[in-house]
Amino acid sequence: MGNVHVFDHPLIQHKLTYIRDVSTGTKEFRELVDEVATLMAFEITRHLQLQEVTVETPVGPSKSHALAGKKLGVVPILRAGIGMSDGILKLIPAAKVGHVGMYRDPQTLKPVEYYVKLPSDVEEREFIVVDPMLATGGSAVDAISSLKQRGATNIKLMCLIGAPEGVEEVQNQHPEVDIYLAALDEKLDEKGYIVPGLGDAGDRLFGTK
Ligand code: PRP
Ligand code: URA
Repeated sequence: MGNVHVFDHPLIQHKLTYIRDVSTGTKEFRELVDEVATLMAFEITRHLQLQEVTVETPVGPSKSHALAGKKLGVVPILRAGIGMSDGILKLIPAAKVGHVGMYRDPQTLKPVEYYVKLPSDVEEREFIVVDPMLATGGSAVDAISSLKQRGATNIKLMCLIGAPEGVEEVQNQHPEVDIYLAALDEKLDEKGYIVPGLGDAGDRLFGTK
C-alpha cells in the first residue's frame, strides 16, 4: 500500500492557512500555491540519488555530490494543477512536463478526460502527478491510469489538500502510489467539495467563477 505523507513544515502550514482564507485574492492565492509547491517539491525529492563529482573551487579540487541523473516528469492535472507545476520546476528545471486535461462533471462528479500529452520516454521517468485538490479521488485515479496505460511505472501524487475519501480511492485503485499532501482534511460535502478545503482551486487560481 502506498504511503500518505502530510508535510507539517511550519512554512507549508503557514502559507496553506492563507491559501484557504476566502479573503485571499487571486494574485496572492496563485503566489502562495506556487510557493507551497516549491516547498513540497523540496520534501518530495529527498530520496533522489547522488553521485560523486569533482569540481574545481577557486582554492582547489572538491569531491562533491550532484544528482545522479534520474529522469523526472511533472504532470499537472489541468487546469488547477498548472498552479503547482512552475513551483516544482523552480527546483528541478530539468524535469519534463506532461499534461493531463480533466474536469469533474458537476452532476456525476466523475472526471472527464479531454487531453493527454506526455514526454516520449515515459517508461524511464519518475512522475509526480500534481493537483491542488484530492476530493473524491476520481481525477487523480484516472490521471494515474492514463500515465500507466502509456507505460509509466513510477508515479507519485502530490496535492495541497486531500479528503479521506480521495486518499482511500487512490490507495484502492493504485496501491503502489505514494501520496504527498500539505493537509488531510475532514470530509467531502454533498457537492464533492473538500471541507474545510479552500473552495474551487481552479476558479481561485485563475479568477473564474
Ligand atoms: C478539481 C481539482 C481536481 C478535481 C478534484 O478540478 O483541481 O482536478 O477537481 O476532484 P476529484 O478528486 O473529485 O476528482 P476541476 O474538475 O474543478 O477542474 P479545473 O481544474 O479545470 O477547475
Ligand atoms: N475541486 C476543487 O477545486 N475543490 C474541491 O474542494 C473539490 C474539488
